[in-house]
Amino acid sequence: MKETVKPIRKLTGEIAIPGDKSISHRSVMLAGLADRPVRISNFLAAADCLSTVACMRALGVKIDRPGENELIVLGKGLYGLSEPDEVLDAGNSGTTIRLLSGILAGQPFFSVLSGDGSLRRRPMARVIAPLAKMGCRIYGREQSRYAPLAIVPADGIHGIDYTMPVASAQVKSALLFAGMFADGPTRITEPYVSRDHSERMLQTFGAKVTRSGLTVKLSPVQELSAPAVIDVPGDISSAAFWLVAATIIPGSSLRLTNVGINPTRTGIIDILRRMGADIEITARRQAGEEPVADLVVSAAELVGTTIEGEIIPRLIDEIPVLALAALFAKGRTVISGAEELRVKETDRLRAITSELAKMGARIEETADGLVIDGPQTLTAAACHSHDDHRMAMALAIAGLAAGGVEIEDAGCVAISYPRFFAQIAALQEAAGGTE
Ligand code: S3P
Repeated sequence: MKETVKPIRKLTGEIAIPGDKSISHRSVMLAGLADRPVRISNFLAAADCLSTVACMRALGVKIDRPGENELIVLGKGLYGLSEPDEVLDAGNSGTTIRLLSGILAGQPFFSVLSGDGSLRRRPMARVIAPLAKMGCRIYGREQSRYAPLAIVPADGIHGIDYTMPVASAQVKSALLFAGMFADGPTRITEPYVSRDHSERMLQTFGAKVTRSGLTVKLSPVQELSAPAVIDVPGDISSAAFWLVAATIIPGSSLRLTNVGINPTRTGIIDILRRMGADIEITARRQAGEEPVADLVVSAAELVGTTIEGEIIPRLIDEIPVLALAALFAKGRTVISGAEELRVKETDRLRAITSELAKMGARIEETADGLVIDGPQTLTAAACHSHDDHRMAMALAIAGLAAGGVEIEDAGCVAISYPRFFAQIAALQEAAGGTE
């Protein structure tokens, strides 16, 4: 599907941010292993999370969907899943395949996990190797580097003390989920703290998880006691597109409601503010274990900055749109330590550099990041999403802020933000048509 985005005069009004993708996945998985029904509200009904729903159903969990963004999950208990008849299809979703691999590694039955072409090229040794150390029997294609993954019952699962070579919430979560079924505590040390939604949600379900510095420890779990309701906060990674858009489009002022502001996710706010953005955090509240707020963002002049080290995992999915902000900022922005972007839905460092170049941007691609000198002027162009939802949305914001853009294969926004282009149309209408 091709989408054409016209430039917009300014962005004003209010946007209700759709549910958090990471939290939506985790809510269905843990609710499926719990002992009583859980109602999940503001669930992200996007392709990735629906892949998780389909996999959990294939494992015997009954999931009703009484409303577009509402699920009732009838958990089978920690030991109640059943052997699937078919290959479990994780679609495009790295979170589905990696987190489920941890759960399935603890089951007394055979299962196979696979996904689309992009997912089958993404690295899986990072979960297979530590799971094997725990005693799990999990194998993949090409010497256990890629999906499909085949999982057979283990003789016993042992808690390990594992230091992760990369900061990855998906790997950490897979090991924590397998660790529920282990005979002793699991300790995981990260190079930098990655998103901690699994830790928080495990606590909500009564599991004993503690953190000390960069190490998290989970004690084996006997049963998960479900909360009656999980209210999923809005996804800051989706809000990020509007944070950047309203900052770089003069005269804009937007209120983004119900945004999760878990500190392991707010790197985008920290960096944009450091660059000079005007972002106010209001109406702070709690949704279960997760902090939530409304964000009010107004247009501002930006300056370049350095993005590296511990903040990288706190904004890993926002780098495509941050690169766009850097093009509008005065001075140099240097992003380093972001080599993980090469193994996302596409090689995002390459895709950012090559697609924004079509709009006239000069971005230097390094092995682990980007160097961007701004401000630069972008012009209308035809670009390609690389079948990557966050690339499609970053390009759309570039088109809104500059001369417009035509995006080939833009349907992939359905992975995390199905109403993204409808939202743009509503903003165009509110602004009195296009420029
Ligand atoms: C996610 C973790 C991150 C992130 C992805 C979602 C999660 O991946 O990029 O979009 O839900 O745990 P990595 O763990 O591979 O860094």
